[in-house]
Amino acid sequence: MALLRMRNTKGPNAAEIERKIKRGNALRQGSSWWGSRALVLLLLVALCTAAAALWLYVTRLDRDITETLASQRELISPEPRVYSVPCSEDYDNYKRYPGCTPQKCGRAVTDSVVTREEAQVLRRLAERGMALAGSEGGASILDLHSGALSMGKQFVNIYRYFGEQIRTVFEQEDFSLYRDVRGRIQTIIAETFGLDPSLMYLTKPTFFSRINSTEAKTQHDEYWHPHIDKVTYGSFDYTSLLYLTDYGSDFMGGRFVFMDKNGNRTVEPRSGRVSFFSSGSENLHRVEKVTWGTRYAITVSFTCDPAHAISDPTLP
Ligand SMILES: *[C@@H]1O[C@H](CO)[C@@H](O)[C@H](O)[C@H]1NC(C)=O
Ligand SMILES: *[C@@H]1O[C@H](CO)[C@@H](O)[C@H](O)[C@H]1NC(C)=O
Repeated sequence: MALLRMRNTKGPNAAEIERKIKRGNALRQGSSWWGSRALVLLLLVALCTAAAALWLYVTRLDRDITETLASQRELISPEPRVYSVPCSEDYDNYKRYPGCTPQKCGRAVTDSVVTREEAQVLRRLAERGMALAGSEGGASILDLHSGALSMGKQFVNIYRYFGEQIRTVFEQEDFSLYRDVRGRIQTIIAETFGLDPSLMYLTKPTFFSRINSTEAKTQHDEYWHPHIDKVTYGSFDYTSLLYLTDYGSDFMGGRFVFMDKNGNRTVEPRSGRVSFFSSGSENLHRVEKVTWGTRYAITVSFTCDPAHAISDPTLP
């Protein structure tokens, strides 16, 4: 009898319970939907925080650098990447040469003027030449035009010092590649700045440089000071650099830095890369200290003043 009553009373109770269960399920479903959304949101916040922290970390490491104009990893080809900068008044202090004196100023980078293979040949040339002597630290230079080579705390004239023996170190082809590359650099500068290439002249110093992390022993081996080429060498109108090694794999540090009032802009050396710029105060620059490895480059300088022209080097 009791059993029967229970069974009877279960009728309305069961319906009530079922309703409760359904409501419960619906609520649970709702809260689990909200739960997964909160989780996604939390993950997003965590991700953003991590990204911000990473960005802060990276920019703090490089807090002096505002912008990378050309990174080592990219290939700038076929057209040069050009950044215009208003010309400084430096050129007013010199005679103006129409068709050459900067009217447009700026800086540019190209990877399509010199191949990596050619850069490698020129680097080997530099290695062989520098092996004859070299500075005690900081930068060593080799100037094939004058024959000047760093030796200890001074310089030696390789043509005078080694005489015809220098032909066991350099070959005719090395010199013709050097002349050829110089000509191509002159052409791209003229094209970029709208000049007559026949009114531009190679000038001194034009030289190979080798830099490693050993401290400079003399002032002229301290390559990292900010400077203006037109102020340092009055004859300069256009400066170019041909890089013979790669930033990041051959050496660290050693980036080229344009120091503008509103920030520092770098060019990362890449083997075969040519960077060039007008030589006045609009292009104050420096080279970072090399922290590891060896950096090779060639500085090729041009003037508009024929009185400061130098000729291509020849083997004695
Ligand atoms: C750097 O080059 C100089 C020669 O200029 C050499 O004496 C020195 O051992 C080199 N340092 C390193 C770390 O390779
Ligand atoms: C540029 O770099 C130098 C150090 O190399 C730093 O002292 C200077 O604050 C930097 N300039 C800007 C505007 O960030």
